[in-house]
Amino acid sequence: MKAIIALDAARPGVRIPRELHGHFSEHLGRCIYDGIFVGKDSPIPNENGMRRDVVSALREIGVPLLRWPGGCFADEYHWRDGIGPQFARKRMVNTHWGGVVEDNSFGTHEFLELCRQVGCTPYINANLGSGTIQEMSEWVEYLNSSGDSTVAMERWANGQKEPFGVRYWGVGNENWGCGGNMTPEAYADLYRRYQTYCRNYGENRLFRIACGPSENDWHWTEVLMQKAASMMDGLTLHSYTVPSGDWKDKGSATEFNVERYYETLRRAAHMDDLIRGHLAIMDRYDPQHRVKLMVDEWGCWHNVEPGTNPGFLYQQNTMRDAMVAALTLDIFHTHAERLGPCCIAQMVNVLQSVILTEGDRMLITPTGWVFSMYKAHQEAERLDYAVFCDRMENGLKQVSVSATRKKDVITLTLTNLHPTDTVSCEIPLGDVRIVSARSRTLSGDMHAMNTFDVPEQVQISPWRDAAFADAALTMALPACSVTQVEVHV
Ligand code: AHR
Repeated sequence: MKAIIALDAARPGVRIPRELHGHFSEHLGRCIYDGIFVGKDSPIPNENGMRRDVVSALREIGVPLLRWPGGCFADEYHWRDGIGPQFARKRMVNTHWGGVVEDNSFGTHEFLELCRQVGCTPYINANLGSGTIQEMSEWVEYLNSSGDSTVAMERWANGQKEPFGVRYWGVGNENWGCGGNMTPEAYADLYRRYQTYCRNYGENRLFRIACGPSENDWHWTEVLMQKAASMMDGLTLHSYTVPSGDWKDKGSATEFNVERYYETLRRAAHMDDLIRGHLAIMDRYDPQHRVKLMVDEWGCWHNVEPGTNPGFLYQQNTMRDAMVAALTLDIFHTHAERLGPCCIAQMVNVLQSVILTEGDRMLITPTGWVFSMYKAHQEAERLDYAVFCDRMENGLKQVSVSATRKKDVITLTLTNLHPTDTVSCEIPLGDVRIVSARSRTLSGDMHAMNTFDVPEQVQISPWRDAAFADAALTMALPACSVTQVEVHV
């Protein structure tokens, strides 16, 4: 198999906002508790309750933005339950996710401490479904006001003098479903009302985010844009890849045949159609493209691992998931100018995670390694390219690409989606001259994964089957792989 990737390396274009590589952490299963937060008294090494191993891996992965506290949990979450002395915090039952007790030991301050340690931007999704306008309004004030108000003083009393300056602000989640089962008309009216009382404090300007559609619910987008476009900065889209297409039996995360592999990638690639479709509707109401589309929940949703709590959504992660991650990030990059923050679901121990934990052990999944390789694209400028290669039996091109440039460094991530066939690539770079190049790859059988017994089965390794001449690279891409090439010009 052969591929030619023609690159216009001399003309960098649109910046890839780092927030396109964002993550999502919900009070769900072992994402927050166990996975990230173990509390100060835990024998697991931690800083202010956050696992040191996980935080350091998240920094390596390059998490630019983190959404919290949900998901469906967001519309049941009352922020005042999660502030103040730990012993006095309210206990509640997490009715959406496993019926376990939520002791609120991880709340607003802990989330912002996590973001500080990871070095990422916070994105808070507030409660419209079951919370009041006053509650939402005061949460913004608590976070962002430096004024002489009782609410701001309360933050001081809880140890944070300076305002947190939270910018990304979600006004409800999936309000067509778990967030209140609303019609788009009803939600749009509530959205307009709730967001009115989410004030800007000081220099901070809120980026107001409205709940958008699920999948191809074009009508939801139409109504929201028609009724509320001028009052929002972002509209969310949720789209999961369910390999079987059947929510009742989504398929195993680890046991699948090659047909299911192809089917999974075909479904993941549908993200491009969804983005184009929703943007076309948004264009009619926002021709200036001020409002960003935000895919703030995406990823593979498999059956839970056998023997685990069905409400915890814990699943393993193979090279198939890594292919979905690379393909999806490539799609986001092609729409970079129109997208706002996007978040894979979810960061640790839930759905398509970048990290799994078990007691004091931790591993980075194949998906995590893809994010780590793609980190080089954050804030870089996109390069135009054309891919000439065979199509696979699911109709997708065998090679998927992202190409960016930061000054004199060009980064390519080249994904060979084929489950068994290597592809040899020629990559002419146009008018530029190559000074040096190095490449590394993540590859394996489509079933390959990291387990707690063999946590480094899948990892990035140097890739030597690559050569460069003056203005062209040639390289072989192993089957089912992501190869990153860093070219100095
Ligand atoms: O990510 C799991 C759940 O999926 C979220 O809570 C919800 O928003 C979506 O349905």
